[in-house]
Amino acid sequence: VEPFVVGSKSFTAVAINTAAKAGQWIKSKLGDINRVDTKYSSQDLVTEVDKGSEKLIRNLIMTHFPDHSILGEEGVEPGPEASARALQAMSDEEYLWIVDPIDGTTNFVHGFPFYSVSIALAHKGEIIVGVVYDPSRDELFVAEKGKGAYMHGNKTTVSLDSKLSESLVATGFPADRDGALPINLRGTLALAPKVRNLRSGGSAALHMAYVAAGRLSGFWEIGLSAWDVAAGSLLIQESGGKVSDTAGNPYQLSVRNVLATNGQIHNELQQELAGAGATGL
Ligand code: IPD
Ligand code: CA
Ligand code: CA
Ligand code: CA
Repeated sequence: VEPFVVGSKSFTAVAINTAAKAGQWIKSKLGDINRVDTKYSSQDLVTEVDKGSEKLIRNLIMTHFPDHSILGEEGVEPGPEASARALQAMSDEEYLWIVDPIDGTTNFVHGFPFYSVSIALAHKGEIIVGVVYDPSRDELFVAEKGKGAYMHGNKTTVSLDSKLSESLVATGFPADRDGALPINLRGTLALAPKVRNLRSGGSAALHMAYVAAGRLSGFWEIGLSAWDVAAGSLLIQESGGKVSDTAGNPYQLSVRNVLATNGQIHNELQQELAGAGATGL
């Protein structure tokens, strides 16, 4: 991790520092998990490391910005309705931090090194800072509204692929209880033969960072929450890509069915999902 300014009042510096600290701490806990609990479904896991990471993140943000609000996954009741309610209740806050303390808990539990910390800051509902940190590779993706997106000082830009057939595209398989998984599988079935190949790494935030960095040309998933997507959406927009819901409507914090691409394949991917009846519930 680069030596970021500690104690700076800059929103971005705090976001970077916080994500890096949380990420390093999480990584130090890999293989040292005492208990795995389930939340909304038997596939929806949580560990003490998820909770510890969120606590660390909350403490650091509150130290710098005590009058800001924080929406974090582990501070909310499990399930999509509770997530939506919590977001709704906080949507009028002037400064709202949106935090996923470990995105990819299943991977973390299994020691599959593809998980991340995702931190976004919204000002009056508009995301102005987005940071996704991958401690396994020490890769930190940062975006500031209107100022571009970077990975360790290098500007990130989306891929140039203009056809699905030349595109590497990712999706995710949601921990299901409400039928999001079968919809995602329908989309997967339709898209697998159309794209160059599909990937599913198991961290929505990191998939979105990879779209921003041009490593993937597209990503979609049904049934996500604000904290999975908020930081990644700014990374992609600031890297020249496009984020919407799976029906093609503009991205907003409440979007759960996400389509994120390099821009070029957006319509083609959206049409395929729509044709397969795979845009959502
Ligand atoms: C999950 C990951 C996963 C996605 C799930 C998310 P979590 O987040 O992003 O890739 O498929 O839908 O819930 O629970 O590991 O933070
Ligand atoms: Ca979770
Ligand atoms: Ca998540
Ligand atoms: Ca999480």
